[in-house]
Amino acid sequence: MKILEERIRQEGLVLPGNVLKVNQFLNHQIDPDLMLDIGKEFVKLFGEQKITKILTVESSGIAPAIMTGLLLHVPVLFARKQKSSTMPNELYSAKVYSYTKKIENTITVESKFLPASDHVLIIDDFLANGEAVNGLLKICQQANAQVVGVGIAIEKSFQAGAKRITDQGIHLESLAKIASFADNQVHFVGENYN
Ligand code: G4P
Ligand code: NA
Ligand code: NA
Repeated sequence: MKILEERIRQEGLVLPGNVLKVNQFLNHQIDPDLMLDIGKEFVKLFGEQKITKILTVESSGIAPAIMTGLLLHVPVLFARKQKSSTMPNELYSAKVYSYTKKIENTITVESKFLPASDHVLIIDDFLANGEAVNGLLKICQQANAQVVGVGIAIEKSFQAGAKRITDQGIHLESLAKIASFADNQVHFVGENYN
């Protein structure tokens, strides 16, 4: 997705540890126009299939997820990282290890919001090692819900996550694919290095 790549090039900061900081439009301040364009792109890629729910994980997945849900007129469900005190017992949960933060989170979804009849499109902002998406896939398994596919805004293709998802036969679409951060520059998959 050209405009997303341009924004990453213009406003992204490459940090040590292969981390891309995009706080200008995605992870802190959010550009709603760009998020809407991201939603439109996901609708182009997945909209032909039956989708009854968007599933993401808080917090940064919510912005692209909600735009996709808005365009498809389906609810957007986000897994929580902290147990809410107002949440009853009927939960689906999965452990998610964060390599960037070196902590394990348990993500949870109230079972009543994910019936077995759901056709789920999983959306997230970043795909690195695939821990978050894997946790969401486990939750869908527990619910016996059907996974239509996984839509990612920014994939770090040099990390393990993409292969981990496609190896399970799941339809993955990433709008910007980063091949490397060589010389502290963002290099996208398919572009010429020079
Ligand atoms: P994984 O889910 O693909 O395995 O990712 P990993 O554990 O490596 O990353 C943990 C968190 O960091 C996730 O957000 C993930 O989206 C984010 N992340 C991974 N790589 C990058 C990167 O290069 N740049 C940025 N900006 N984020 C990255 P999270 O902990 O769930 O946080 P949030 O959604 O509340 O922001
Ligand atoms: Na994040
Ligand atoms: Na995220």
